[in-house]
Amino acid sequence: MNDESMLPGSPRFGHKGAVIWLTGLSASGKSSLANGLEHALLARGYACYVLDGDTLRKGLNANLGFSPEDRGENIRRVAAVAGLFADAGLVCIVAVISPYRADRALARQAYARGFHEVYVAADLQTCEARDPKGLYRKARAGELSQFTGISAPYEAPLQPQLRLETAGESLEASVATLLGYVLEKIPRPLKAD
Ligand code: ADX
Repeated sequence: MNDESMLPGSPRFGHKGAVIWLTGLSASGKSSLANGLEHALLARGYACYVLDGDTLRKGLNANLGFSPEDRGENIRRVAAVAGLFADAGLVCIVAVISPYRADRALARQAYARGFHEVYVAADLQTCEARDPKGLYRKARAGELSQFTGISAPYEAPLQPQLRLETAGESLEASVATLLGYVLEKIPRPLKAD
């Protein structure tokens, strides 16, 4: 067979598979960034898909809560699925709080050859002021336990591949920075190594 795209290991979609892992507090902007990036990548001919914590917790992870153990299992499953998407050649964009460094380190192992940790770095005060789902208010009122940033920890990445300051700039500006990073790291058409 002469078609190079059929060779084992060749990318199916003209670019390498990858996992873009967005971590940050609730309301830091992960889902908006993920959707903005997906939109921009699709427009450029990339194959991509968003895995969002809120969505996955309604299905695959519906049996999990927010204890450290359950979050660990949540992240393990999300990472495994993301790794499969990336293995299939897609750019898989993941938006989950993933508050524990150790869990994120394990997540990286699910697709170590193309895992990009992006820290969506909005401070707690900003996230709490946004509070789009009213969850910070509930957590402060004691109606929601183990809430990240209030009654459960968030361990910020020490050496993320990319850090986005979403508190101080517009969503469009953050998406543009993220898109620029992805286009550089995962070029299409694929460049020779
Ligand atoms: S993670 O910590 O296990 O990575 P994940 O991203 O899947 O969390 O889910 C977070 C979402 O669950 C939040 O956006 C919020 O809507 C909801 N949620 C409900 N209870 C909590 C809680 N105690 N802490 C954080 N998020 C919560």
